[in-house]
Amino acid sequence: MASIWVFHGPNLNLLGVREPQHYGSRTLAEINQEVLEIAKLAGLNAECRQTNHEGDLIDWIQALTPADFLILNPGAWTHTSYAIRDAISAVKVPAVEVHLSNIHAREAFRSSSLIAPVCLGQISGLGADGYALATRYAVDYQIRRQQK
Ligand code: DQA
Repeated sequence: MASIWVFHGPNLNLLGVREPQHYGSRTLAEINQEVLEIAKLAGLNAECRQTNHEGDLIDWIQALTPADFLILNPGAWTHTSYAIRDAISAVKVPAVEVHLSNIHAREAFRSSSLIAPVCLGQISGLGADGYALATRYAVDYQIRRQQK
């Protein structure tokens, strides 16, 4: 059973070819590989998923428990989805929001996140490294909880 879940939203399957000036050249598979290695080294299970369908993401979030940890890049749903925000809030899963690009330094519509208020924090603008950083945080968080 995974305790760290990494969910990627719409269009993130295109990483590597999609607007590399914003999102870098690493593919989703490469990013996921690094996440899995960091978790494995710490003895924790992680699972990564991507979807272009909002309902799928909501179903996946609803299946989590407060004992899990969620790393989420909601893609454009960041700026539009009350439903994803409500799902995280309902499940009470600790979550970190990740964006490859700095959403505060781009078009005005990207600077507002509906998801951030129900997350522990947000990593934005550090490229693929943001996922590695979020995973290290998730590992520490889960280990601290196990020790309590
Ligand atoms: C993104 C930023 C969003 O505004 C955009 O719609 C994405 C990717 C990022 O990772 O920088 O799809 O979430």
